[in-house]
Amino acid sequence: MNEAGGEALTLDDFEARARSKMERGAYDYYAGGAGDELTLRANREAFDAVWLRPRVLVDVSRTDLTLQLLGDTLSMPVLLAPAAFHRLAHPEGELAVARAAASAGAVMVVSTLATCTLEEVAAAAPGVRWFQLYAYRDRSLSENMIRRAEAAGYRALVLTADTPRLGRRLRDQRNAFQLPADVRMANFEAQHPLMTRPEAASGGRTLMNYAQEMLNPSLNWKDLEWMRGATRMPVLVKGILTAEDARSAVEHGASGVVVSNHGGRQLDGAIPAVRALPEIVDAVAGRVPVLMDGGV
Ligand code: GLV
Repeated sequence: MNEAGGEALTLDDFEARARSKMERGAYDYYAGGAGDELTLRANREAFDAVWLRPRVLVDVSRTDLTLQLLGDTLSMPVLLAPAAFHRLAHPEGELAVARAAASAGAVMVVSTLATCTLEEVAAAAPGVRWFQLYAYRDRSLSENMIRRAEAAGYRALVLTADTPRLGRRLRDQRNAFQLPADVRMANFEAQHPLMTRPEAASGGRTLMNYAQEMLNPSLNWKDLEWMRGATRMPVLVKGILTAEDARSAVEHGASGVVVSNHGGRQLDGAIPAVRALPEIVDAVAGRVPVLMDGGV
């Protein structure tokens, strides 16, 4: 149906509703991809091209989707992928999302670029949470965030590996998108107040300027080893799209890999996540969990 008015029953319904309610720049920030958005579209098309082979005459009077993942029991194999700036959509931002995730029994992966602090999100609801980490040029920033996530009971770290630089997001450029004045990167508030706003942290006003000045473009496998040594939490690597990198991740001690092209927001032309999945599952060969996002 896809209408903004009626009851929202599908993800597409929610998307249509968001488009009708949100300010254009904010909507486009969430919905857009990098470059010509080839990968953004292909993520969805590749999913649409996956067909099921249903088997029949099996007893389905009791079904059970629960699973064990990195030591926790989840109600179903669905996690909330990390996404920045939830308060762009609603004043309650990540706090409301934490409550929803907890009531569904799904892991929420909280972004470094959350607009509530990781401690506030942890206090908002019960439930299993992981923390997504961007690697900053200044390692002490990452270290500090890791310690705080541990102290607040986060159960795993998800290192985003595909963002040594931010993708070229044309919608954001065309909209001259900036964070509204009341939306801040709250995780930096206590120690690095200048880093809560792109214009204060860097020479420009955009997220692109911020990422360019702050994120570590030399991030490599040795940093993963460093990170493993810096925490008791399991570390997953997000942004894997090839069998080669999946093997490297396992060899360097990753506790899981997330097959992802960052929702088409980073390298336009990168393979759709669901198409990359089979070779990665083969390469990992059951040694660690394999998760995926993009086009769901
Ligand atoms: C942040 O992670 C983004 O993709 O904008």
